Amino acid sequence: MTEVVLDAVNKVYPDGFHAVRDMSMRIADGELFVLLGPSGCGKSTILRMVAGLEEITSGRLWLDGTLANNLPARDRNLAMVFQNGALYPHRNVRGNIAFPLEVAGDSSPAAHERIVELSRALGIEETLHRLPSTLSGGQRQRVAMGRALIRQPNVFLMDEPLSNLDAGLRTELRMEIGALVRSLGVTTLYVTHDQTEALTLADRVAILRRGVLQDVGTPQQVYDDPATMFVAAFLSAPPINLVRATVRAEQNEGIVLGLGDQHLRLPWTDPRAASLVSWHGSFITLGIRADALRPAPDGLISGRVRTMEFHGHEWLAHVEAGISLVDTEAFRDDEPSPAGPGGDDGLLRRLLRTAGILAEETPVERVSHDGTHRRADVVFRLEQRSGIAVGQTVRLAVDTDRILLFGEDGGRVDAVRR
Ligand SMILES: Nc1ncnc2c1ncn2[C@@H]1O[C@H](COP(=O)(O)OP(=O)(O)O)[C@@H](O)[C@H]1O
Ligand SMILES: [Mg+2]
Repeated sequence: MTEVVLDAVNKVYPDGFHAVRDMSMRIADGELFVLLGPSGCGKSTILRMVAGLEEITSGRLWLDGTLANNLPARDRNLAMVFQNGALYPHRNVRGNIAFPLEVAGDSSPAAHERIVELSRALGIEETLHRLPSTLSGGQRQRVAMGRALIRQPNVFLMDEPLSNLDAGLRTELRMEIGALVRSLGVTTLYVTHDQTEALTLADRVAILRRGVLQDVGTPQQVYDDPATMFVAAFLSAPPINLVRATVRAEQNEGIVLGLGDQHLRLPWTDPRAASLVSWHGSFITLGIRADALRPAPDGLISGRVRTMEFHGHEWLAHVEAGISLVDTEAFRDDEPSPAGPGGDDGLLRRLLRTAGILAEETPVERVSHDGTHRRADVVFRLEQRSGIAVGQTVRLAVDTDRILLFGEDGGRVDAVRR
Protein backbone atom coordinates (compact mmCIF):
# COMPACT_ATOMS: atom_id res chain seq x y z
CA MET A 1 0.00 0.00 0.00
CA THR A 2 1.07 3.55 -0.61
CA GLU A 3 1.43 7.01 0.80
CA VAL A 4 0.79 9.81 -1.72
CA VAL A 5 2.49 13.17 -1.23
CA LEU A 6 2.06 16.30 -3.30
CA ASP A 7 4.65 18.95 -2.63
CA ALA A 8 3.94 22.41 -4.05
CA VAL A 9 2.45 20.94 -7.22
CA ASN A 10 1.40 23.33 -9.99
CA LYS A 11 -0.41 22.70 -13.22
CA VAL A 12 -0.35 25.24 -16.00
CA TYR A 13 -2.18 24.01 -19.09
CA PRO A 14 -0.65 24.67 -22.52
CA ASP A 15 -3.08 27.57 -23.04
CA GLY A 16 -1.53 29.26 -20.00
CA PHE A 17 -4.35 28.52 -17.56
CA HIS A 18 -3.03 27.94 -14.06
CA ALA A 19 -5.39 25.19 -12.90
CA VAL A 20 -3.60 23.98 -9.74
CA ARG A 21 -1.49 26.19 -7.49
CA ASP A 22 1.17 25.16 -4.99
CA MET A 23 -0.84 22.12 -3.95
CA SER A 24 0.66 20.31 -0.98
CA MET A 25 -0.98 17.38 0.74
CA ARG A 26 -0.04 14.07 2.30
CA ILE A 27 -2.42 11.16 1.89
CA ALA A 28 -1.60 8.45 4.40
CA ASP A 29 -1.31 4.79 3.55
CA GLY A 30 -4.80 3.30 3.52
CA GLU A 31 -6.53 6.63 3.95
CA LEU A 32 -9.81 7.54 2.24
CA PHE A 33 -9.01 11.10 1.21
CA VAL A 34 -11.63 13.28 -0.51
CA LEU A 35 -10.96 16.24 -2.78
CA LEU A 36 -13.96 18.57 -2.58
CA GLY A 37 -14.74 21.78 -4.43
CA PRO A 38 -16.97 23.36 -7.05
CA SER A 39 -16.75 22.46 -10.71
CA GLY A 40 -13.55 23.72 -12.29
CA CYS A 41 -11.51 24.01 -9.09
CA GLY A 42 -8.90 21.53 -10.29
CA LYS A 43 -9.95 18.23 -8.68
CA SER A 44 -9.74 16.10 -11.82
CA THR A 45 -6.49 17.78 -12.79
CA ILE A 46 -4.93 16.69 -9.49
CA LEU A 47 -6.23 13.16 -9.87
CA ARG A 48 -4.90 12.95 -13.41
CA MET A 49 -1.47 14.19 -12.30
CA VAL A 50 -1.38 11.51 -9.59
CA ALA A 51 -2.42 8.93 -12.18
CA GLY A 52 0.30 10.04 -14.59
CA LEU A 53 -2.20 11.10 -17.25
CA GLU A 54 -1.31 14.77 -16.96
CA GLU A 55 2.14 16.28 -16.76
CA ILE A 56 3.12 18.10 -13.56
CA THR A 57 4.28 21.62 -14.41
CA SER A 58 6.27 22.12 -11.20
CA GLY A 59 6.51 20.65 -7.73
CA ARG A 60 6.90 17.03 -6.71
CA LEU A 61 4.72 13.96 -6.52
CA TRP A 62 5.90 11.17 -4.23
CA LEU A 63 4.39 7.68 -4.29
CA ASP A 64 5.55 5.76 -1.27
CA GLY A 65 8.69 7.83 -0.98
CA THR A 66 9.61 7.55 -4.67
CA LEU A 67 9.67 10.67 -6.79
CA ALA A 68 6.99 9.89 -9.35
CA ASN A 69 6.77 13.04 -11.52
CA ASN A 70 8.09 11.20 -14.54
CA LEU A 71 7.02 7.68 -13.70
CA PRO A 72 4.92 6.31 -16.60
CA ALA A 73 1.27 5.75 -15.69
CA ARG A 74 1.51 1.98 -16.25
CA ASP A 75 4.29 1.72 -13.64
CA ARG A 76 2.31 3.43 -10.88
CA ASN A 77 -0.04 0.54 -10.11
CA LEU A 78 -3.01 2.86 -9.71
CA ALA A 79 -6.60 2.22 -10.66
CA MET A 80 -9.11 4.86 -11.66
CA VAL A 81 -12.90 4.99 -11.88
CA PHE A 82 -14.66 7.87 -13.61
CA GLN A 83 -18.15 9.30 -13.58
CA ASN A 84 -19.20 6.98 -16.39
CA GLY A 85 -17.25 3.84 -15.71
CA ALA A 86 -17.26 2.73 -19.35
CA LEU A 87 -17.43 -1.07 -19.61
CA TYR A 88 -16.65 -3.38 -22.52
CA PRO A 89 -20.15 -3.85 -23.96
CA HIS A 90 -19.58 -7.31 -25.43
CA ARG A 91 -18.05 -8.81 -22.31
CA ASN A 92 -20.21 -9.96 -19.46
CA VAL A 93 -19.62 -8.74 -15.92
CA ARG A 94 -17.12 -11.48 -15.18
CA GLY A 95 -15.29 -10.71 -18.42
CA ASN A 96 -15.12 -7.03 -17.56
CA ILE A 97 -13.76 -7.59 -14.08
CA ALA A 98 -11.33 -10.23 -15.37
CA PHE A 99 -10.00 -8.04 -18.18
CA PRO A 100 -7.01 -6.58 -16.28
CA LEU A 101 -6.07 -10.08 -15.16
CA GLU A 102 -6.15 -11.34 -18.75
CA VAL A 103 -3.96 -8.46 -19.87
CA ALA A 104 -1.50 -9.42 -17.13
CA GLY A 105 -1.71 -13.09 -18.17
CA ASP A 106 -3.04 -14.18 -14.80
CA SER A 107 -5.56 -17.00 -15.10
CA SER A 108 -4.71 -18.64 -11.79
CA PRO A 109 -7.44 -20.19 -9.64
CA ALA A 110 -6.63 -17.54 -7.02
CA ALA A 111 -7.46 -14.81 -9.52
CA HIS A 112 -10.81 -16.41 -10.27
CA GLU A 113 -11.53 -16.79 -6.61
CA ARG A 114 -10.83 -13.10 -6.26
CA ILE A 115 -13.34 -12.17 -8.97
CA VAL A 116 -16.05 -13.99 -7.05
CA GLU A 117 -14.98 -12.48 -3.73
CA LEU A 118 -14.86 -8.96 -5.09
CA SER A 119 -18.19 -9.26 -6.91
CA ARG A 120 -19.70 -10.50 -3.65
CA ALA A 121 -18.27 -7.51 -1.78
CA LEU A 122 -19.70 -5.25 -4.47
CA GLY A 123 -23.11 -6.93 -4.40
CA ILE A 124 -22.99 -7.98 -8.08
CA GLU A 125 -22.31 -11.68 -7.67
CA GLU A 126 -25.66 -12.53 -9.27
CA THR A 127 -24.86 -10.53 -12.38
CA LEU A 128 -21.52 -12.12 -13.36
CA HIS A 129 -22.96 -13.69 -16.51
CA ARG A 130 -24.85 -10.59 -17.67
CA LEU A 131 -23.89 -8.01 -20.29
CA PRO A 132 -23.45 -4.36 -19.22
CA SER A 133 -26.49 -3.26 -21.27
CA THR A 134 -28.73 -5.28 -18.92
CA LEU A 135 -27.41 -3.60 -15.76
CA SER A 136 -28.61 -0.53 -13.87
CA GLY A 137 -26.36 2.52 -13.59
CA GLY A 138 -25.45 1.58 -10.03
CA GLN A 139 -24.53 -1.96 -11.03
CA ARG A 140 -22.38 -0.68 -13.88
CA GLN A 141 -20.41 1.53 -11.48
CA ARG A 142 -19.93 -1.47 -9.20
CA VAL A 143 -18.52 -3.46 -12.12
CA ALA A 144 -16.20 -0.58 -13.01
CA MET A 145 -14.97 -0.58 -9.42
CA GLY A 146 -14.47 -4.32 -9.48
CA ARG A 147 -12.41 -4.05 -12.66
CA ALA A 148 -10.33 -1.28 -11.10
CA LEU A 149 -9.70 -3.17 -7.86
CA ILE A 150 -9.13 -6.69 -9.19
CA ARG A 151 -5.39 -6.23 -9.54
CA GLN A 152 -5.00 -4.80 -6.04
CA PRO A 153 -3.77 -1.32 -6.93
CA ASN A 154 -1.59 0.66 -4.55
CA VAL A 155 -3.81 3.68 -4.96
CA PHE A 156 -7.46 3.84 -5.99
CA LEU A 157 -8.59 7.04 -7.71
CA MET A 158 -12.26 7.87 -8.13
CA ASP A 159 -13.53 10.89 -10.02
CA GLU A 160 -17.16 11.69 -9.13
CA PRO A 161 -18.14 8.03 -9.45
CA LEU A 162 -21.66 8.60 -8.14
CA SER A 163 -22.71 11.79 -9.87
CA ASN A 164 -24.70 10.03 -12.59
CA LEU A 165 -26.78 7.99 -10.16
CA ASP A 166 -30.05 8.98 -8.58
CA ALA A 167 -30.10 10.10 -4.96
CA GLY A 168 -31.11 6.83 -3.31
CA LEU A 169 -28.51 4.78 -5.14
CA ARG A 170 -25.88 7.39 -4.44
CA THR A 171 -26.36 7.12 -0.70
CA GLU A 172 -26.32 3.33 -0.81
CA LEU A 173 -23.25 3.02 -3.02
CA ARG A 174 -21.45 5.74 -1.09
CA MET A 175 -21.67 3.71 2.11
CA GLU A 176 -20.57 0.59 0.29
CA ILE A 177 -17.58 2.30 -1.30
CA GLY A 178 -16.48 3.49 2.12
CA ALA A 179 -16.81 0.02 3.62
CA LEU A 180 -15.12 -1.66 0.66
CA VAL A 181 -12.02 0.52 0.34
CA ARG A 182 -11.56 0.48 4.10
CA SER A 183 -11.78 -3.31 4.22
CA LEU A 184 -9.24 -3.52 1.39
CA GLY A 185 -7.05 -0.92 3.10
CA VAL A 186 -6.23 0.68 -0.25
CA THR A 187 -5.15 4.34 -0.27
CA THR A 188 -8.04 6.13 -1.96
CA LEU A 189 -8.33 9.57 -3.49
CA TYR A 190 -11.96 10.40 -4.11
CA VAL A 191 -13.14 13.47 -6.02
CA THR A 192 -16.55 15.05 -5.55
CA HIS A 193 -18.33 18.40 -5.67
CA ASP A 194 -20.96 17.17 -3.19
CA GLN A 195 -20.31 18.23 0.39
CA THR A 196 -22.54 15.55 1.90
CA GLU A 197 -20.65 12.87 0.02
CA ALA A 198 -17.35 14.30 1.24
CA LEU A 199 -18.39 14.67 4.88
CA THR A 200 -19.97 11.24 5.13
CA LEU A 201 -17.27 9.32 3.28
CA ALA A 202 -13.90 10.85 4.06
CA ASP A 203 -11.26 10.07 6.64
CA ARG A 204 -9.98 13.51 5.71
CA VAL A 205 -11.20 16.01 3.18
CA ALA A 206 -9.35 18.74 1.27
CA ILE A 207 -11.42 21.68 0.08
CA LEU A 208 -10.26 23.45 -3.08
CA ARG A 209 -11.18 26.68 -4.73
CA ARG A 210 -9.83 27.85 -8.08
CA GLY A 211 -6.86 25.54 -7.87
CA VAL A 212 -5.94 26.64 -4.35
CA LEU A 213 -6.13 24.44 -1.26
CA GLN A 214 -8.43 26.11 1.27
CA ASP A 215 -8.48 23.65 4.12
CA VAL A 216 -7.77 20.05 5.00
CA GLY A 217 -8.86 17.98 7.97
CA THR A 218 -11.33 15.40 9.21
CA PRO A 219 -14.92 16.13 8.20
CA GLN A 220 -15.68 17.33 11.71
CA GLN A 221 -12.62 19.60 11.84
CA VAL A 222 -13.35 21.37 8.56
CA TYR A 223 -17.03 21.71 9.41
CA ASP A 224 -16.65 22.94 12.98
CA ASP A 225 -13.52 24.98 12.46
CA PRO A 226 -13.33 25.99 8.77
CA ALA A 227 -10.19 27.86 7.72
CA THR A 228 -12.02 30.28 5.43
CA MET A 229 -15.43 31.77 4.72
CA PHE A 230 -15.50 29.79 1.48
CA VAL A 231 -15.07 26.50 3.37
CA ALA A 232 -17.78 27.44 5.88
CA ALA A 233 -20.18 28.34 3.08
CA PHE A 234 -19.36 25.37 0.89
CA LEU A 235 -19.90 22.87 3.70
CA SER A 236 -23.12 24.38 4.99
CA ALA A 237 -26.50 23.03 4.03
CA PRO A 238 -28.74 24.90 4.75
CA PRO A 239 -26.63 27.88 3.75
CA ILE A 240 -24.69 29.61 6.50
CA ASN A 241 -25.74 33.20 7.29
CA LEU A 242 -22.79 35.46 6.53
CA VAL A 243 -23.52 38.74 8.24
CA ARG A 244 -21.47 41.90 7.99
CA ALA A 245 -20.59 43.44 11.33
CA THR A 246 -18.56 46.34 12.69
CA VAL A 247 -16.03 45.72 15.44
CA ARG A 248 -15.52 47.93 18.48
CA ALA A 249 -13.28 47.11 21.42
CA GLU A 250 -14.79 48.63 24.57
CA GLN A 251 -12.92 48.52 27.83
CA ASN A 252 -15.98 47.80 29.97
CA GLU A 253 -17.94 45.64 27.58
CA GLY A 254 -15.49 43.54 25.60
CA ILE A 255 -15.78 43.25 21.84
CA VAL A 256 -18.97 44.79 20.50
CA LEU A 257 -20.07 43.49 17.11
CA GLY A 258 -22.55 45.81 15.41
CA LEU A 259 -25.17 44.36 13.05
CA GLY A 260 -27.16 47.32 11.81
CA ASP A 261 -28.50 48.88 14.99
CA GLN A 262 -28.18 45.62 16.98
CA HIS A 263 -25.13 44.54 18.95
CA LEU A 264 -23.53 41.25 19.90
CA ARG A 265 -21.02 41.17 22.74
CA LEU A 266 -18.00 38.97 23.33
CA PRO A 267 -16.85 39.63 26.90
CA TRP A 268 -13.10 39.85 27.57
CA THR A 269 -13.30 36.39 29.12
CA ASP A 270 -14.18 35.03 25.68
CA PRO A 271 -10.97 33.58 24.17
CA ARG A 272 -11.79 35.18 20.80
CA ALA A 273 -12.05 38.70 22.15
CA ALA A 274 -8.31 39.37 22.31
CA SER A 275 -7.76 38.47 18.65
CA LEU A 276 -10.45 40.99 17.65
CA VAL A 277 -8.88 44.05 19.29
CA SER A 278 -6.82 44.83 16.21
CA TRP A 279 -10.07 44.86 14.17
CA HIS A 280 -11.41 47.81 16.15
CA GLY A 281 -13.10 50.17 13.71
CA SER A 282 -13.27 47.69 10.81
CA PHE A 283 -15.77 45.32 9.29
CA ILE A 284 -15.75 41.57 9.71
CA THR A 285 -18.18 38.88 8.57
CA LEU A 286 -19.97 36.66 11.07
CA GLY A 287 -20.77 33.11 10.02
CA ILE A 288 -23.95 31.99 11.75
CA ARG A 289 -25.24 28.55 10.83
CA ALA A 290 -29.00 28.04 10.65
CA ASP A 291 -28.92 25.97 13.85
CA ALA A 292 -27.02 28.65 15.81
CA LEU A 293 -30.16 30.84 15.77
CA ARG A 294 -33.30 30.27 17.82
CA PRO A 295 -36.45 32.26 18.42
CA ALA A 296 -36.30 34.15 21.72
CA PRO A 297 -38.35 37.11 22.98
CA ASP A 298 -35.21 39.18 23.62
CA GLY A 299 -33.39 37.88 20.53
CA LEU A 300 -30.91 40.15 18.80
CA ILE A 301 -32.01 39.82 15.18
CA SER A 302 -35.57 40.64 14.35
CA GLY A 303 -37.47 40.34 11.11
CA ARG A 304 -40.49 39.12 9.24
CA VAL A 305 -40.82 35.44 8.32
CA ARG A 306 -40.94 35.30 4.56
CA THR A 307 -41.17 31.53 4.04
CA MET A 308 -41.27 28.33 6.06
CA GLU A 309 -39.81 25.31 4.29
CA PHE A 310 -40.65 21.79 5.41
CA HIS A 311 -37.71 19.38 5.06
CA GLY A 312 -39.15 16.37 6.84
CA HIS A 313 -36.77 16.26 9.80
CA GLU A 314 -36.69 20.04 10.16
CA TRP A 315 -38.21 23.35 9.15
CA LEU A 316 -36.18 26.16 7.65
CA ALA A 317 -37.46 29.66 8.15
CA HIS A 318 -36.33 32.54 5.92
CA VAL A 319 -36.49 35.86 7.69
CA GLU A 320 -36.29 39.30 6.15
CA ALA A 321 -34.11 40.94 8.78
CA GLY A 322 -32.89 44.05 6.98
CA ILE A 323 -29.24 43.28 7.64
CA SER A 324 -26.61 42.87 5.00
CA LEU A 325 -25.63 39.33 4.15
CA VAL A 326 -23.04 37.82 1.86
CA ASP A 327 -24.58 35.68 -0.86
CA THR A 328 -23.35 32.13 -0.28
CA GLU A 329 -24.62 31.07 -3.69
CA ALA A 330 -21.73 33.06 -5.07
CA PHE A 331 -19.46 30.44 -3.52
CA ARG A 332 -21.32 27.38 -4.78
CA ASP A 333 -21.52 28.57 -8.33
CA ASP A 334 -17.90 29.56 -8.35
CA GLU A 335 -17.27 29.61 -12.06
CA PRO A 336 -19.71 29.73 -14.96
CA SER A 337 -20.47 26.07 -15.54
CA PRO A 338 -22.90 25.50 -18.40
CA ALA A 339 -22.47 21.73 -18.31
CA GLY A 340 -23.10 21.54 -14.59
CA PRO A 341 -20.91 20.04 -11.89
CA GLY A 342 -18.53 17.45 -13.17
CA GLY A 343 -19.50 18.24 -16.72
CA ASP A 344 -16.97 18.65 -19.43
CA ASP A 345 -17.24 22.39 -19.71
CA GLY A 346 -13.49 22.85 -19.97
CA LEU A 347 -13.61 23.55 -23.69
CA LEU A 348 -16.20 26.28 -23.38
CA ARG A 349 -14.27 27.93 -20.57
CA ARG A 350 -11.10 27.80 -22.60
CA LEU A 351 -12.86 29.39 -25.58
CA LEU A 352 -14.31 32.11 -23.35
CA ARG A 353 -10.91 32.76 -21.85
CA THR A 354 -9.24 32.87 -25.25
CA ALA A 355 -11.89 35.31 -26.44
CA GLY A 356 -11.23 37.43 -23.37
CA ILE A 357 -14.79 36.96 -22.09
CA LEU A 358 -13.75 35.00 -19.03
CA ALA A 359 -11.02 36.57 -16.95
CA GLU A 360 -7.70 34.73 -16.96
CA GLU A 361 -6.93 35.55 -13.36
CA THR A 362 -9.97 36.07 -11.20
CA PRO A 363 -9.28 37.37 -7.70
CA VAL A 364 -9.41 34.55 -5.18
CA GLU A 365 -11.86 36.36 -2.92
CA ARG A 366 -14.81 37.31 -5.06
CA VAL A 367 -17.29 37.87 -2.28
CA SER A 368 -16.69 41.38 -1.11
CA HIS A 369 -18.31 43.71 1.33
CA ASP A 370 -19.29 46.18 -1.33
CA GLY A 371 -22.84 44.94 -1.29
CA THR A 372 -22.76 43.24 -4.67
CA HIS A 373 -23.44 39.84 -3.16
CA ARG A 374 -26.29 40.09 -0.76
CA ARG A 375 -28.92 37.65 0.18
CA ALA A 376 -31.87 39.26 1.81
CA ASP A 377 -32.91 36.56 4.24
CA VAL A 378 -31.53 35.10 7.42
CA VAL A 379 -32.14 31.35 7.56
CA PHE A 380 -32.76 29.50 10.78
CA ARG A 381 -33.66 25.96 11.63
CA LEU A 382 -36.48 24.59 13.73
CA GLU A 383 -37.14 21.02 14.73
CA GLN A 384 -40.83 21.68 14.72
CA ARG A 385 -42.93 24.39 13.18
CA SER A 386 -43.49 25.74 16.72
CA GLY A 387 -46.44 27.88 15.70
CA ILE A 388 -44.34 30.24 13.58
CA ALA A 389 -46.33 31.61 10.68
CA VAL A 390 -45.35 33.32 7.45
CA GLY A 391 -45.69 37.08 7.79
CA GLN A 392 -45.12 37.07 11.52
CA THR A 393 -42.27 38.99 13.17
CA VAL A 394 -39.72 36.89 15.04
CA ARG A 395 -36.74 37.72 17.22
CA LEU A 396 -33.74 35.44 16.96
CA ALA A 397 -31.07 34.85 19.57
CA VAL A 398 -27.56 34.09 18.35
CA ASP A 399 -25.54 31.33 19.98
CA THR A 400 -22.32 33.36 20.22
CA ASP A 401 -20.27 30.29 21.12
CA ARG A 402 -20.95 28.93 17.68
CA ILE A 403 -20.35 31.95 15.45
CA LEU A 404 -17.36 32.04 13.11
CA LEU A 405 -15.54 35.29 12.41
CA PHE A 406 -14.00 36.14 9.03
CA GLY A 407 -11.88 39.05 7.87
CA GLU A 408 -11.92 40.96 4.59
CA ASP A 409 -9.77 38.33 2.88
CA GLY A 410 -12.18 35.55 3.88
CA GLY A 411 -9.76 34.06 6.44
CA ARG A 412 -10.67 33.44 10.08
CA VAL A 413 -9.98 36.26 12.55
CA ASP A 414 -10.92 34.21 15.59
CA ALA A 415 -8.44 31.54 14.56
CA VAL A 416 -8.36 28.90 17.21
CA ARG A 417 -6.97 26.47 14.69
CA ARG A 418 -6.52 22.79 15.24
N1 LIG B 1 -6.58 20.58 -21.18
C1 LIG B 1 -6.91 21.74 -20.60
N2 LIG B 1 -6.47 22.93 -21.07
C2 LIG B 1 -6.78 24.09 -20.46
N3 LIG B 1 -7.55 24.19 -19.36
C3 LIG B 1 -8.02 23.05 -18.84
C4 LIG B 1 -7.75 21.77 -19.43
N4 LIG B 1 -8.36 20.83 -18.67
C5 LIG B 1 -8.99 21.48 -17.68
N5 LIG B 1 -8.79 22.81 -17.78
C6 LIG B 1 -9.30 23.85 -16.87
O1 LIG B 1 -8.70 23.68 -15.60
C7 LIG B 1 -9.64 23.96 -14.57
C8 LIG B 1 -9.74 22.77 -13.65
O2 LIG B 1 -10.33 21.70 -14.35
P1 LIG B 1 -10.69 20.33 -13.65
O3 LIG B 1 -9.48 19.81 -12.96
O4 LIG B 1 -11.32 19.45 -14.68
O5 LIG B 1 -11.76 20.80 -12.57
P2 LIG B 1 -12.79 19.94 -11.68
O6 LIG B 1 -12.47 18.50 -11.87
O7 LIG B 1 -12.55 20.41 -10.29
O8 LIG B 1 -14.15 20.30 -12.15
C9 LIG B 1 -10.94 24.31 -15.27
O9 LIG B 1 -11.05 25.71 -15.33
C10 LIG B 1 -10.78 23.72 -16.65
O10 LIG B 1 -11.50 24.48 -17.60
MG1 LIG C 1 -13.69 16.99 -12.64
